[in-house]
Amino acid sequence: MSSYKLDLDGKSVELPIVVGTENEKGLDISNLRAETGYITLDNGYVNTGSCESQITFINGAKGILRYRGYPIEQLVEKSSFEEVSYLLYYGKRPNKSELEGFKAKIGEYSVVPKEIIKMIEAFPKDAHPMGMLATAVTALSGFYPEFVKSNLNDDEKNKALPLLMGAFKVISAAIYRHVSSGSMKLNSQSSLNYPEDFVSLMFDKSDEDVAKALDILLILHADHEQNCSASTVRMVGSSKANIFASIASGINALWGPLHGGANQAVIEMLDSIQADGGDYKKYIELAKDKSHPFRLMGFGHRVYKNFDPRAKLIKGSCDKVLAKLGVSDPVLDIAKGLEAEALKDPYFVERKLFPNVDFYSGIIYRALGIPTTMFTVMFALGRLPGWLTQWKEMIEGDSLKICRPRQIYTGETLRDFSDQ
Ligand code: SDX
Repeated sequence: MSSYKLDLDGKSVELPIVVGTENEKGLDISNLRAETGYITLDNGYVNTGSCESQITFINGAKGILRYRGYPIEQLVEKSSFEEVSYLLYYGKRPNKSELEGFKAKIGEYSVVPKEIIKMIEAFPKDAHPMGMLATAVTALSGFYPEFVKSNLNDDEKNKALPLLMGAFKVISAAIYRHVSSGSMKLNSQSSLNYPEDFVSLMFDKSDEDVAKALDILLILHADHEQNCSASTVRMVGSSKANIFASIASGINALWGPLHGGANQAVIEMLDSIQADGGDYKKYIELAKDKSHPFRLMGFGHRVYKNFDPRAKLIKGSCDKVLAKLGVSDPVLDIAKGLEAEALKDPYFVERKLFPNVDFYSGIIYRALGIPTTMFTVMFALGRLPGWLTQWKEMIEGDSLKICRPRQIYTGETLRDFSDQ
C-alpha cells in the first residue's frame, strides 16, 4: 500500500506512505490541511517525524545506534572522534590524507580571538559555562563574517566543521580555565589529536588514558538524530540563520536538565543522595511518587525503550578509567546501587526506564577532574559535529522550508474591547 485514504467530514485525502531503508513507516500529511482543513496535534512530537535523514539510525527497542550505517560499538572500538566527525559531516570515511588534512584544518582554526576570551572573562566565575559557550559561539559571527551570509558556498560549508570544532575546543577550555581561575593563555598543539589537545588546553598537561576515555565519550555524543537540540538547530537554520546562530541555539536547548543538562543533574542527584546518608532506595521511591517532583536523572529516554547502547559502552569505559586512575568514588557505588534497584523495580521496568547516556558520563567526567558545571559543555563538544551535519543536510535538502508549526487555538473567542 503506497498511500492511506483518510475520510474526514465528507472530504477524503490520500496520504502517501513513506518507507525508510530500515523499513520505518510514516504517513506524509503535507496535503492534510489543504484537502480536509484538519491539522494533527502531537504534544512533544512523540509521534511526528520532522524530516527524512541519512545521518543516524536509532532503533530504540533493540538498542541500536549507527552513524552513516556503522554501529556505534565498532566506531568506539576502531575509529576516532576526528574520523567519526568527518564521516558524519562529509558522508564518507576519509582516506589517510583526507583525515590528515581535516586535522590540520581543525588545528588552523584552534585559535579564538582575544576579544572572545575577554567576553568569557567578563562572566562571573560561578556563572553557568553553557551561557558562556552560547555567547562565545554567537560572538564568532563577528570574527568570521564570511560565514554569516545565509547561502554558504561549498568551500565555506566544507570549512564550517573544522572551524567550529577548532573554536569549540579552545572556547570550552577557556571557559574551564575561567571558572577554575586558571591562566587564560591557551596554546593549541597541532601535534596532538583532538581529545589530547583538549586535555592539554584544559589541564596544561596531556594524559593518554584521559584522552582515550574522552575520545570514546565524544564519539558516543557525536549525533543522535532528531533530539531536542538537533531539532532546534534545524528549526533555527531553516530560517537561513547563519551557522553560529543555529549552533548557539542547539547549545541553549542542550542546557536543559531533561536533555544535555542531565549529566550534571545526575551527579548533583548522586551527591545529594550521598549527603542524605546514601539511602538510594529512598530516592527510588521518591522518583515513583507522582506527587513529588523528583525524577531519577539519567534514567529514561524518549526513544530507547530498551537500553541506551551508549550507556553500556560508557559503563565499560567508566570501570576501566576509574581502575586506571585509581579512583574509588562512593558516588559510583550509589550509582550502581540505584541502577540495580531500578532495573528490578516494576515502576521502571513497566515504563522501560533504563540508564541513558547521561547516567555514567558524569561519573567519568568527574573522575577525569572535570567540574560538574562543565559536563554539559563536554556534551556539546561531542554533539557539535552532529548538529552541524543535521544543519547541512537540512539546508542542502530538496525543498528547504522554514519550520513553522500550526496550532489549535483554545483561547477567548471574539469579544468587544469596549465591553467591561
Ligand atoms: C538525552 O532525545 C535524545 O536523543 C536525547 C539524548 C541525546 O543524545 O541527544 O539521548 C540525550 O537527553 C538523554 C535523556 C537525559 N534526560 C534525563 O535523564 C532526565 C530524566 N529523564 C526523564 O526526564 C525522561 O525520561 C525523558 C525526558 C528523558 C524522556 O521523557 P519521555 O519519553 O517524554 O517520557 P515521559 O515524560 O512521557 O514519561 C513516561 C513515564 C511517566 O510516568 P507515567 O505518567 O506513565 O506514570 O515515565 C515516567 C514519567 O513520569 N518517567 C520517569 C522518568 N522518566 C520518565 N519517572 C522517574 N524518573 C524518570 N527519569
